[in-house]
Amino acid sequence: MKVGGNARFFTSVSNIDEVAEAVRWAKKENLPIFVLGGGSNIIVSDKGFEGLVIKNDIRGISFTDNQNNVQVTAGAGENWDRLVERSAERELYGLENLSLIPGTVGAAPVQNIGAYGSELKDNVVSVEAFDISEQKNKVFQKEECNFSYRNSLFKQTNNFIITKVTLELQKNGNLNLDYKDIQLEIEKEKIDFSQLTPEDVRELVVKIRRKKLPDWRELPTVGSFFKNPEIPKRQFENIRRNYDDLPGFETKTGKVKIPLAWIIEKICQMKGSSVGGVKVYERHALVIINPYDGTANDIRDLTREIKKCVFDKTGIEIEAEAKFIGNFD
Ligand code: EPU
Repeated sequence: MKVGGNARFFTSVSNIDEVAEAVRWAKKENLPIFVLGGGSNIIVSDKGFEGLVIKNDIRGISFTDNQNNVQVTAGAGENWDRLVERSAERELYGLENLSLIPGTVGAAPVQNIGAYGSELKDNVVSVEAFDISEQKNKVFQKEECNFSYRNSLFKQTNNFIITKVTLELQKNGNLNLDYKDIQLEIEKEKIDFSQLTPEDVRELVVKIRRKKLPDWRELPTVGSFFKNPEIPKRQFENIRRNYDDLPGFETKTGKVKIPLAWIIEKICQMKGSSVGGVKVYERHALVIINPYDGTANDIRDLTREIKKCVFDKTGIEIEAEAKFIGNFD
């Protein structure tokens, strides 16, 4: 978001021994730790962070060929999209819908990144993470990671530093082309979908994302700022009495997931609204951008306004997807 003050202490780590050493030092000095991946989903306080920032720079990608699938193991500091690109180049199925998501491999399991009908958890075998309180590296099998929508064990506590991720990709897998935007693009371009490869789908997803979401290099952003709320069916029907075209998708748990962008745009009419230098993106209401050197406090204030409006008009309490770091008044 291009906001935030300084870190009091900063170090970069490229292997588990360095992780252990950094953690030991922070404990000795009684300092809080913040683990930085690509910095693409955080709002750092204007006052900075009064502790140790550990930049995760553990590298390495290896592909292991099995009979029907390929396991890929990547260091947490690798760039996520580079991994997706390399997998698609090898005609491996599984990651193509998750193309162009900014950030690192190690950050991907933390919030179980997802897009266009796929989620990271669909491909996870295991996640290796350093346990800060026990000061040792552990391996978590997929079931132990508590993955759910934009959530995981690693997000629920601040106790883990992810060091490595192992994913399973398919050699002759299925493509997931169900998401509305993908369907529209296939129809528009008159693409013969029976011929599509993972690389083609990657290309489609990149095209769709470039149209809808700002490039963070030009317009500082964290992508979607909030999670889409999941609410009980009864509450959904009640809200629909006032807003009868509110979209909703029934989830496996029987709740209804609502595109928050629709509420922000149509009910709160906050597309283009701004506080200080930050504003709600005109092309997508769930996205906040910082085009005019806004501050972290501007972001806090604008997002408070959005939260308040959504609650006042619908009774829904929304939750940020982005993470606030450091002290905010
Ligand atoms: N919509 C509006 N106004 C807008 C934009 C969208 O009303 O300005 C409505 C439309 O009805 C549209 C619906 O919202 O059909 C959903 O929009 P979109 O397909 O863009 O998806 P989203 O729910 O806003 C989620 C993820 C994105 C991911 C896309 C595609 C969350 C919080 N966000 O957004 O993830 O790329 O789906 O799968 O779940 C991110 O996490 O940073 C991110 C970009």
